[in-house]
Amino acid sequence: MPLPSRIVLVGPMGAGKSTIGRQLARELGYRFLDSDRMIEERCGADIPWIFDVEGEGGFRQRESAILRELSDIGASVLATGGGAIMKDENHEWLKRDAVIVYLKASLEQQIERTRKDRNRPLLQNDDPEAVLRRLFELRDPIYSRLADIVMLTDRKSPRLVVRQIINRLNPRTPRQRRKIRKEDQKHV
Ligand code: S3P
Repeated sequence: MPLPSRIVLVGPMGAGKSTIGRQLARELGYRFLDSDRMIEERCGADIPWIFDVEGEGGFRQRESAILRELSDIGASVLATGGGAIMKDENHEWLKRDAVIVYLKASLEQQIERTRKDRNRPLLQNDDPEAVLRRLFELRDPIYSRLADIVMLTDRKSPRLVVRQIINRLNPRTPRQRRKIRKEDQKHV
C-alpha cells in the first residue's frame, strides 16, 4: 500500500491526537497541522475565548472553514478537535485524499488525561466525566464509521502508537501483516 498523501487523526479529547500527530509527521517527513491551533492563530484568541464570545456555533464554523481549507494541502498529518466529525459537511473535507485514523481511548483514560484541564470549554462544568461519557456515546459510532484504521491508545506510549500506525499504513507482505497483527494484539 503506498503511503497516503494525508493522514487525519480523529478521536475524543485526551486521546493524544496532537502529541501522536506531531511524532507521526516527523517520522514520515510530513507536515504537521493541528486544526485547533490554526483556528486560534487565525482568530488571534484561544479556544475558551472563542467559545465565550462566539459560542460553540461560532467555533464550529471556524473549524469547518479550516478543515475545508486543509483538505487539499498534500502530504500532511492533521490532528483535529474531538468535535470535528459532528458536522456532516466536514466528513467530505476530512476524507479527501486521506486515511482517517481513529485514536480511541477508554473513558477512564480520557478522564485521566483531561483532569485539571482549563482549555477545553466543554469540560468546564460540575461534571466533566458525565460530559465525556455522553460525548463518547454520541461520537464513538461516528469516529468508527469514518475511520480506515482504529488504534487504541490506552496504556501505550505515543512512540508505540506511531509505530503501530506506520505498520498499519504500510504492511508490505502477508507475513509482515500477520506479524503486525500479532504485535498489535499484545498491546491492546
Ligand atoms: C472539542 C475538542 C477540543 C476543541 C474544542 C471542542 C470537542 O479539541 O476542538 O474544545 O468538541 O470535543 P481536542 O479534542 O484536541 O481536545
